[in-house]
Amino acid sequence: MIGNVSRNSVAVGITGVGFYAPDQVLTNADLEEMVDTSDEWITTRTGIRERRLAAADQAASDLALPAARQALEQSGTAVEDLDLVVVATATPDMLFPATAAILADELGARKAAAYDLLAGCTGFVYALAQAYGALATGLSKRALVVGTEALSKITNWHDRSTCILFGDGAGAAVVEPVDDGGIQGFELGADGSGGPDLCVPAGGSRRPVSPDALEEEAQFIKMNGAEVFRFATRVMVSSAEELLAACGASVDDVDLYVPHQANKRIIDHAVKNLGLDPAKVLLNIDRYGNTSSASIPIGLAEAQADGLLEEGTRVLMSAVGAGLTWGSVYMTWTGNGRI
Ligand code: ACO
Repeated sequence: MIGNVSRNSVAVGITGVGFYAPDQVLTNADLEEMVDTSDEWITTRTGIRERRLAAADQAASDLALPAARQALEQSGTAVEDLDLVVVATATPDMLFPATAAILADELGARKAAAYDLLAGCTGFVYALAQAYGALATGLSKRALVVGTEALSKITNWHDRSTCILFGDGAGAAVVEPVDDGGIQGFELGADGSGGPDLCVPAGGSRRPVSPDALEEEAQFIKMNGAEVFRFATRVMVSSAEELLAACGASVDDVDLYVPHQANKRIIDHAVKNLGLDPAKVLLNIDRYGNTSSASIPIGLAEAQADGLLEEGTRVLMSAVGAGLTWGSVYMTWTGNGRI
């Protein structure tokens, strides 16, 4: 689906962002000790130098909590005023209850509806669209949108083709009506025929965890890297182009591009084919790897901390992930200029 929402009567923006990355750092040199790989291979093929790992007792909600608190503080929003918490994650604390409900309870958001959303690495963009819909129709007044992942817990540490890619972390955004600007449009899509190219085969109702599944290590991420790479390079470009056209904008209007950090080569391809100025691209994949649904909100929070987001900054975000899904959002930064 695609929509230019800038003419809607209610403008909706992000008024605060926050992020959290766990303390433990796993470098490429550490991975050399674990699987048959090299720092040189990982750096050249992916741009990743290190990633963060959640502690044994840290689940997705634990990573989300400090990110959410930081976003609320920056926005100046009282937690009691939240009426919606959407958590995008592929690594929930458990199948149910929803990680969003656990997070809302820990935050003290007693009036908020809370649910999880699964769209792989596109999760944050999808969740932002969900929150936008609720805010634009007046159903919600103040929402918290979170991307949080403890991917290390579903990573096969014997599989060198996947274990070098992923990392843990969380990012959060407070989303609410604003005076002017804010979200201009979304483009979202999914092609389920590519689902088997990036999946966790066991642990759901299709294949519950069993001794056989564990023997096959089917409870971990399985990926057809080359196919995902081909798909990602195509849709990162088409999604952004279609969205900008729908919003009556051109690539030259974009002040900051915050792409999902899956592989630096995928980002470089998108930047080149979109004709974006490389100086406008937020890159942190070298330090965090692919944190799936957390990667865009971590990028936003770092951009904010680095002074790259000012009132009026036009931001383009695009992601691709398991599903296979994709999504882009174009917005004018408003700071906490709420109504
Ligand atoms: N170290 C050393 N060699 C390796 C490693 C490694 N870690 N992994 C694979 N290789 C080898 C392969 O075995 C292969 O060897 P061969 O030629 O002898 O068979 C060779 O390197 C080349 O392998 P390719 O898979 O062709 O390498 P490629 O350049 O495609 O890079 C990669 C692989 C990095 C996984 C790439 O395909 C990719 O980034 N794909 C997209 C992945 C992605 O973005 N996934 C996340 C999507 S978002 C989400 O929802 C989670």
